[in-house]
Amino acid sequence: MNARALKPAEATPWTDPVELQGIGRLTIRALAPSDAEALRDFLESLSDSTKRRRVLGESGPPSDARLARLTRFDPARELALVALRHGDDGDEIIAVARYSAGDTPGEATFAIVVGDRYQGHCLGTELMCRLRDAAGVMGYRRMVGLTQPVNTPMLALARRLGCRVSPVPGDDALQRLSVAVPPPFPVPVPAAAGPRRAGRRT
Ligand SMILES: CC(C)(COP(=O)(O)OP(=O)(O)OC[C@H]1O[C@@H](n2cnc3c(N)ncnc32)[C@H](O)[C@@H]1OP(=O)(O)O)[C@@H](O)C(=O)NCCC(=O)NCCS
Repeated sequence: MNARALKPAEATPWTDPVELQGIGRLTIRALAPSDAEALRDFLESLSDSTKRRRVLGESGPPSDARLARLTRFDPARELALVALRHGDDGDEIIAVARYSAGDTPGEATFAIVVGDRYQGHCLGTELMCRLRDAAGVMGYRRMVGLTQPVNTPMLALARRLGCRVSPVPGDDALQRLSVAVPPPFPVPVPAAAGPRRAGRRT
């Protein structure tokens, strides 16, 4: 269904650098196979409370197989965006947002986690907006996710994004988040590059 697959290093509007108050300048880009160790450090740095709130995340220390699976995703069906903070010791992953194709055509399932020290600085909002834009370019029209009813920050973020929040039938411990993905703005074609129309005056 997707028009094209994104390459991990491809520059796109959703990979523009960003500066956030309280965090500083960040690079946002697609996760790459070479990020496996940085991703391990990030996942291991999460507090128990943050780990518990990641409904779709696996518990336990990240195995090599899991890291390979997370970093070598199929770009035709999935995208994982990472936020990287630049320090003296190199780049550090401080947040990851991901979608993957759902069972319903045109629908993608999302998940997000921001490192404990960086929560509450709009990074989650920034990443989710970019993830939604990327999903739109890839042909998705809806993103859905799950959260616990007590996850106040995620519910606040969901409302900020315009998500519909609804119960999960038969599971009081979860709520379903659903947000429309607008189609991307058409990219203007420069006149010189576009097809000539017969009889058109210039
Ligand atoms: C949920 C999460 C992604 C939000 O990311 P974030 O960068 O902290 O969120 P933002 O700073 O963009 O803020 C989004 C909203 O959450 C609120 N918020 C952020 N941290 C909060 C906190 N600790 N307590 C209460 N509200 C908080 C913000 O005030 C904002 O609400 P507003 O629009 O009413 O002002 C992040 O808290 C997280 O990673 N949590 C653990 C994993 C998780 O819950 N994932 C979601 C399941 S898919």
